[in-house]
Amino acid sequence: MKALVLSGGKGTRLRPITHTSAKQLVPIANKPILFYGLEAIAEAGIREVGIIVGETEKEIRAAVGTGSKWGLRVTYIPQEAPLGLAHAVKIAEPFIKKDDFVMYLGDNLLKEGLGGLVKEFNQKKPNSLILLMKVKHPEQFGVAELLDGKVKKLEEKPKNPKSDLALVGVYLFDSSIFKAVNAIKPSKRGELEITDAIQYLIDKKMKVLPQTVSGWWKDTGRLDDLLEANRLVLSAAKGRNEGSVDKNSKIEGSVIIEKGAKIVNSTVRGPAIIGENAEIVNSYVGPYTSIYFNSKLKNSEIEHSIVLENSVIEDIKRIEGSLIGQNATVKQSPTKPSAYRIMIGDSSRVEIP
Ligand code: TTP
Repeated sequence: MKALVLSGGKGTRLRPITHTSAKQLVPIANKPILFYGLEAIAEAGIREVGIIVGETEKEIRAAVGTGSKWGLRVTYIPQEAPLGLAHAVKIAEPFIKKDDFVMYLGDNLLKEGLGGLVKEFNQKKPNSLILLMKVKHPEQFGVAELLDGKVKKLEEKPKNPKSDLALVGVYLFDSSIFKAVNAIKPSKRGELEITDAIQYLIDKKMKVLPQTVSGWWKDTGRLDDLLEANRLVLSAAKGRNEGSVDKNSKIEGSVIIEKGAKIVNSTVRGPAIIGENAEIVNSYVGPYTSIYFNSKLKNSEIEHSIVLENSVIEDIKRIEGSLIGQNATVKQSPTKPSAYRIMIGDSSRVEIP
């Protein structure tokens, strides 16, 4: 069994973060999303991994390298443009060859590991095993209609969904999927859809089995989903202190303080994580907050947010439900007139009370 991880794409829904960096590398609890998938793949005993890369190839390569840190052998597969999930499968054929494989969307997080799924696939030997989860807004996902425990029909983002079962971003295939991805035509939005490819298998009477996800699953394509994923991962994390906390500070609940981080005259209420060499001074960090490495928080309050590396937040009363990019500065201006002076990236969103 091999693995194919999709880390190309445009990431339009996460602009402006994705103007400058790969969405799969946004940290959740201070670890790039993509690494959770690679860990799950390694834990399932898979060694050979192909990673589909697009415009952000350089960045993904720099972060993942050869994959040896997880005991993996990684092959990078450049995709000329994000032409669809099934297009990614199509160009991966020379890498996958005749093997079975797990396809994992690089911006997805799945609580349960892959071990059970791989076992199920090896036992039942279907042509494809797809993961499903009940969701509130199925119209935003690929949706499966089941009949007698089998998959009857799949539709990509249907206007009138026939069920509330969304396709989770993890799929298992045998090599018959290559016939399917070579046979289908691009959809109305111009992409080769994986739902159409799996539908092709169903139409050709091949065995497509559904499996319902027991834990949580998050597609981190939008800001709210990223914050929610951060909340879920932090909720399960155990606190530890590898940094320093002065005697005027209070650490409540489970808080991870990474190497070189300093907490001075502040309160950190977990679950939260403070990254390497980050500084929290005269501040409050509330639950479900991740502060990445080298960032500084002074005289400020923050909760339910993600702050990326090398950023500074100073003299800000309260930040909630926010994603602050790399090398960003958010501070009160000492000069008059007292007005908002901002330089924000394209497609940014700022909400001011
Ligand atoms: P999506 O989130 O469906 O697409 P996207 O990355 O273009 O994002 P947006 O809708 O915000 O513009 O992609 C799921 C995952 O698959 C993500 O990690 C990107 C990756 N992907 C590819 O590698 N190649 C592709 O052709 C597509 C469509 C996605």
